[in-house]
Amino acid sequence: MSGHRWTWLAGATAALVVALGWSVATAKVKKPIDWVALNPAFAGATFVNDTETCRTCHDDTMTPYAETKHARAFAVNPPAGTGECESCHGPRSKHVENPTAELKIDPASRARTTVCLQCHEGGARLGWKAGAHQSNDVTCSSCHSVMAKKSAKGLLVKATLGDTCYQCHAEVRADGNKMSHHPVREGRMDCASCHNAHGATPGLLVKNTLNETCYTCHAEKRGPYLWEHAPVRESCANCHTPHGSNQRNLLTAKDSFLCLSCHSYGGHINLPRYNRTSNPYGNGCSNCHVSTHGSNHPSGAKLTR
Ligand code: HEC
Ligand code: HEC
Ligand code: HEC
Ligand code: HEC
Ligand code: HEC
Ligand code: HEC
Ligand code: HEC
Ligand code: HEC
Ligand code: HEC
Ligand code: HEC
Repeated sequence: MSGHRWTWLAGATAALVVALGWSVATAKVKKPIDWVALNPAFAGATFVNDTETCRTCHDDTMTPYAETKHARAFAVNPPAGTGECESCHGPRSKHVENPTAELKIDPASRARTTVCLQCHEGGARLGWKAGAHQSNDVTCSSCHSVMAKKSAKGLLVKATLGDTCYQCHAEVRADGNKMSHHPVREGRMDCASCHNAHGATPGLLVKNTLNETCYTCHAEKRGPYLWEHAPVRESCANCHTPHGSNQRNLLTAKDSFLCLSCHSYGGHINLPRYNRTSNPYGNGCSNCHVSTHGSNHPSGAKLTR
């Protein structure tokens, strides 16, 4: 009885996965590669397809590897044909007979990336080949560690996602220490809240435009408003910087200077209470123009309510 029930459940789950179009990576090599093209030394080699053979010499490497997501997934569902280790390391019959490093694939080469894309093309990596990382020779191994588990999730090379990125983007860490910043260092969000490291959008953002990215969390800024403020629709980056600022509210400049970069004094009679950049009202122009992002008030045309 219970056997039937589980079979049904497995079938139903599979049907659901298909119906919803979930792209769960399976151990199946979706896109087999030509190993000889990656390294001519593979010519004539065949797949040993037996991890116990590898263990006779590589037990030290295989012990930490056993904790990784790959080892766990492959224990249930090993890659057909190639076997587990050789799905990433290529056919190794010649290596088993004469163990040298001649079959090595340079971790910094795009060829190594091809190895991973056998199973991971598509999904979040749909745009990988056109993205800023690929075109700057950043490879999967720059961010991912596959032989040992070093992060709680994502098989990253460092313990945290931020540290993985700071290897190359140290200036973003410095920005995160400024007075006003998104709560990345507090652990309430991370770089992946706004970026897809595998993507191809401008700025590797999770959405196609900067504003769409911001609206995922600041939905109220999307409007539409009865009285729009043109630069807000155009780009939040007209006034804000994403990673950190020494001005309040992640502003690119003290707000009176910011406003005056586009608005001359013309709008006001030239009285200090309007136009002084370091005015006594504290927050400069937004002391009176409280609805900088747009107003829904019938008389909010000048963004003062
Ligand atoms: C008889 C012992 C032996 C067996 C069996 C063996 N290896 Fe090796 N392997 C070595 C030695 C020794 C090295 C280091 C070679 C060097 O640095 O010159 C090595 C290096 C490697 C490397 C790093 C260099 C490279 O070629 O990329 C990988 C990966 C590797 N082995 C994978 C495997 C896999 C997978 C298996 C099982 C199919 C396996 N080995 C079976 C002895 C062995
Ligand atoms: C998902 C792909 C993948 C699988 C599966 C995999 N490896 Fe690796 N292996 C790599 C990559 C990439 C490196 C380069 C170093 C790194 O990223 O950690 C590597 C490095 C190695 C090395 C050389 C460096 C070291 O740690 O000593 C050996 C030996 C090795 N692997 C053996 C194995 C064996 C044995 C298996 C099977 C139990 C295996 N690998 C499974 C991708 C893989
Ligand atoms: C033979 C197919 C195959 C190959 C080749 C392969 N992977 Fe995977 N990978 C998988 C499977 C299966 C999973 C587990 C998916 C799951 O459970 O959601 C996985 C999971 C992952 C994860 C997610 C880990 C986590 O904690 O969620 C990362 C990152 C990853 N692989 C990176 C790589 C990299 C980098 C390479 C190349 C060095 C590579 N993979 C090569 C099949 C493969
Ligand atoms: C610039 C850094 C970086 C590079 C390069 C990179 N990744 Fe990732 N990858 C990440 C981060 C960050 C995550 C998200 C981890 C998390 O959310 O915990 C991730 C997640 C993943 C996952 C699991 C989630 C998913 O999308 O399925 C897989 C699989 C993966 N990467 C494969 C790859 C492969 C294959 C390559 C090379 C083509 C690659 N990555 C290159 C940073 C990178
Ligand atoms: C191995 C070095 C390296 C690592 C690690 C790395 N990057 Fe990059 N990243 C680069 C290079 C090189 C460029 C392209 C040149 C530039 O814009 O600085 C780049 C560009 C970018 C860009 C700008 C893209 C554009 O279109 O202007 C973003 C955003 C980015 N990386 C985010 C990340 C995130 C998030 C991580 C961590 C998950 C990360 N990077 C990890 C090297 C790296
Ligand atoms: C709140 C959203 C957000 C978060 C969180 C975030 N970024 Fe960004 N990042 C952006 C935006 C927006 C841009 C500008 C993109 C553009 O101009 O096209 C950007 C640009 C970048 C660039 C390109 C160079 C630059 O400074 O303009 C890099 C590199 C980068 N981010 C890395 C990171 C890293 C690393 C993290 C995590 C520590 C991170 N970002 C966290 C939104 C974010
Ligand atoms: C993943 C969610 C998320 C995304 C995406 C996001 N933010 Fe935020 N934002 C937050 C959180 C959380 C805070 C902190 C709110 C708090 O402390 O109560 C914040 C705070 C702010 C602040 C106020 C900072 C301060 O010093 O008080 C500004 C300004 C801001 N975000 C602008 C942006 C802009 C511009 C974008 C797009 C580039 C963006 N945000 C994208 C979550 C997000
Ligand atoms: C014309 C300049 C300007 C533009 C463009 C702009 N902002 Fe602002 N933003 C400000 C100012 C000024 C403040 C401080 C407001 C105050 O103190 O009353 C602020 C404050 C914020 C805050 C924190 C306070 C709050 O209202 O929640 C968030 C979040 C924010 N902006 C998000 C965004 C987003 C998202 C965009 C793009 C859709 C955007 N801003 C575009 C000027 C701008
Ligand atoms: C990037 C340029 C830019 C910045 C920065 C900017 N604005 Fe504007 N603002 C505009 C444009 C463009 C309009 C639309 C003008 C029009 O319709 O004639 C506008 C309209 C306005 C209006 C309505 C004017 C009218 O004639 O109805 C007010 C009030 C205003 N802005 C206040 C501010 C304040 C306060 C700040 C600083 C927080 C600011 N603006 C920053 C470009 C900017
Ligand atoms: C003491 C409050 C106050 C301060 C401070 C203030 N404004 Fe105004 N502003 C107003 C009011 C009220 C109006 C509407 C006047 C009207 O409708 O005739 C206005 C109108 C405007 C207009 C629209 C002018 C037009 O032609 O209709 C602009 C642009 C503007 N302000 C920009 C600014 C800028 C830039 C600053 C900072 C340098 C600033 N304001 C500071 C109260 C203020």
